[in-house]
Amino acid sequence: MTPEQAQIRINELRKVLYQHNYKYYVKSEPTISDFEYDLLINELQTLESTFPQFDDENSPSRRVGSDLNREFESFTHRYPMLSLGNTYNREELTEFDLRVKKVVGEDVRYFCELKYDGVAVALTYRNGRLHRALTRGDGTRGDDVTHNIRTIRSIPLQLQGENIPPEFEIRGEVILPAEGFEKLNAEREIKSEPQFANPRNAASGTLKMQNSSLVAKRPLDCLFYYIPGEQQLFQTQHESLEAARSWGFKVPGYNLLAHSIKEVFDFMDHWESARDKLPFEIDGVVIKVDSIQLQKQLGFTAKTPRWAISYKFRAEQATSRLLSIDFQVGRTGAVTPVANLEPVRLAGTTVKRASLHNADQIALLDIRLGDYVYVEKGGEIIPKIVGVDRDRRDADSEPFHFISTCPECNTNLIRREDEAAHYCPNDIGCPPQIKGRIEHFISRKAMEINAAEATIELLFRKGLVKDASDLYRLDFHRIKNLERFGEKSARNLLKSIESSRDVPFPRVLYALGIRYVGETVARKLAEAFLSMDRLMIADQESLEQVDEIGERIAQSLLSYFSEERNLQLVERLKSAGLQMEMESVTEMASEILAGKSFVISGVFVQHSREELKTIIGQHGGKNSGSISARTDYILAGENMGPSKYQKAQKLGISIITEEQFLAMLPQSH
Ligand code: IVH
Repeated sequence: MTPEQAQIRINELRKVLYQHNYKYYVKSEPTISDFEYDLLINELQTLESTFPQFDDENSPSRRVGSDLNREFESFTHRYPMLSLGNTYNREELTEFDLRVKKVVGEDVRYFCELKYDGVAVALTYRNGRLHRALTRGDGTRGDDVTHNIRTIRSIPLQLQGENIPPEFEIRGEVILPAEGFEKLNAEREIKSEPQFANPRNAASGTLKMQNSSLVAKRPLDCLFYYIPGEQQLFQTQHESLEAARSWGFKVPGYNLLAHSIKEVFDFMDHWESARDKLPFEIDGVVIKVDSIQLQKQLGFTAKTPRWAISYKFRAEQATSRLLSIDFQVGRTGAVTPVANLEPVRLAGTTVKRASLHNADQIALLDIRLGDYVYVEKGGEIIPKIVGVDRDRRDADSEPFHFISTCPECNTNLIRREDEAAHYCPNDIGCPPQIKGRIEHFISRKAMEINAAEATIELLFRKGLVKDASDLYRLDFHRIKNLERFGEKSARNLLKSIESSRDVPFPRVLYALGIRYVGETVARKLAEAFLSMDRLMIADQESLEQVDEIGERIAQSLLSYFSEERNLQLVERLKSAGLQMEMESVTEMASEILAGKSFVISGVFVQHSREELKTIIGQHGGKNSGSISARTDYILAGENMGPSKYQKAQKLGISIITEEQFLAMLPQSH
C-alpha cells in the first residue's frame, strides 16, 4: 500500500468510526456488532502504526470511550480502569499463552470467567461500608453513581465476614438480566417509548438516570470479578473472588481454574454454545493468569493488562427466507430498505424483520427475493442480513432492483454524491418526512410535548397540523371531538404544548431538525450566538469559529436559513412565543485570559477537557480546535499527539501543563 492509499483509507476509517462511536456512546443505538467495530479499529491501528506520518491525536483509535455525564460529579480512579485485549480465535489465544509463558515460565494456571455484558463499575469500601461507586468514564475519571448503585439490591452496603481490608476497591459489571430486560422493553412498548437495543444499553441508560427511585424500579444486578490494588491481599485471582463472595458480593460460579490451554479452549467452546441458557448476557470469556505474583511480574501495557485477555464470541446467526423488502422513509427523506423474513428464533427472540442498510449492500450481497439469508444479531434491536446461501437459491430468481421513486409520494429518488442512502427530495410534500419532522420537534430532548406517534398521525391526517408551528394554534373544541380524544386528553395535550413555550432556546434550535444540528451542536451554537436572529444572519466564517462547528454543519445551517419556508416557520414559532434567545451562560470570573487563544490537547488529571474549556471562557480566553499562528498557548495533558507537539514547537507557541495553567488564574480552581 502506498502512503497515499493509506492516507485515504485512514481517513475513511476514522470517519466511519466517529459515526459508530457516536451511535454507540451517545445514542446507545449501535448499528454494527462489537466484532465488526473491533475489526475496523484494528485495521486503523495497524495502518496508523505503519504510517505514523498520518498520526492524529483525535483519531478514534486513541479514544477510550467516555461515558462521562455532565450532571454527575466525577472523580479520578485510584487505579485506572483499563480494558482487556480481545481475541477472536484459538490462534490468538495460543499467542497470548506463549507471551505469558515467555515471561513467567511454564508453570501457569489460568482462571477462566465469563465476560458479563453490562456496564463496568468500581466500588470503594471503607471500614466495610460502601463508600463510592464510579463508572469507567474515560478510564482515568469516572462519574459518581453511588446513589444509583445503592438501589441495586444484590450489592452489599455493609460487608460481613473476615479479613475485610479497611479500604479496598472492587470491580463488577452492572447488568440487566434477560427476564427484567424483556419486561422493561414490553412496558416501554405499551407506553410508546423507544426500545432498548440490548440489556447492556438498558443497564447503562438506567445507571445514568438522575432519579434513583426510578433506577430502583429496574431489576439491575451486579456481578463482581476483580479486586485491584498494590497490596498483596491474596495469592490468586480465584482466592480473591472467593473472599469477595464470602464478604457478600455476588460472584457468579461459572468460573474454571484451568491447568492447560486445552482446558481453556474447552471452557470457551462450552460457553459459546451454552450462553443462551444463562439468565444474563455474556459476550465472551475472560482468561486471567491465576497467580497474583505472576500477574505482577507480567504487569500492564498502556491500555490493557498483560496477564488477562478476553475471547469474544461471534455474533449469533440464523438462516431464514427473505419474503419481501419494504422501504421506509425517514424524517430526512432517507429511504431505508427493511427485509421481511419468515419468522426465525435468534438469540432468545423471534426475528421477522432485518435491516438491509442501503442499495449498495443489497447489490454487494446480491440479495434476491426468496433467498435463504443469514441474519446476525449484534448490538442492534433489528438484526441484519449478513449473507446469502447461494446453494439454496431458486434457479429462476432475478437480481433485486432498488426502487427509483418514493414509496410514499412517488417523487423520483436522488442519491447525493458520497452518500450511500437514497433520498426522497420532496421534503415539503412527502408525508413521513413531514410527520417525522413534527415527531422530532416534540421529542423528549427537543420540545418535550407529550403526544404519541398515533396522535401526530391523526392531527396530520385531519389537516390540523402541517408543520410544528400549527401545534400552537390547536383549538380545544376541535380536538376534543376527534377520535381517540376526549376532554381530558385534549386538555393534557394543550397543556403540554403550552409548557413547551418555556423550553430554552438551545432545545428550540435542536427541535428545528436542521441537518447535522444535534443536541450538542445546537447548544454550542446557541451559546455562541445567543439568539435565533443572530444565528440566522451568521456567515460561514463566524459559524465555523464556534467550537466543534466545521464546514459541513455551517453549510447545512446556511442552506436551511436560505429557504423562505424555513424562515417563515421560525417566524411563526417566534410569534407563538417560543424561546428564541438566551442569556450568556458563562458567568465571567475574570478577564485575565482576554485576547488569549488556547488549544487543549491530551488527557488531564484535575479537570476534564470540557471543564478546562469552560474555565478558559470564564476568564475571557478563547478556545480553538486547531493550532495556528494565532494560538497563544497549548494546554497539554498526557498523551498529547506528537504532530501537535511538533507544530507548536515550530510556531514557537508556549506549551503549558494543567498546573501551570491553573496557576495563571486569579483564584484557585
Ligand atoms: S477483568 C484489569 N473480568 O470487560 C482487568 N472484566 O474489556 C479488568 N468484563 O471493563 C477486567 N466481565 O467491564 C474482567 N469477568 C470479567 C469481566 C470483565 C466483563 C468487562 C469489564 C471490563 C471489560 C474489559
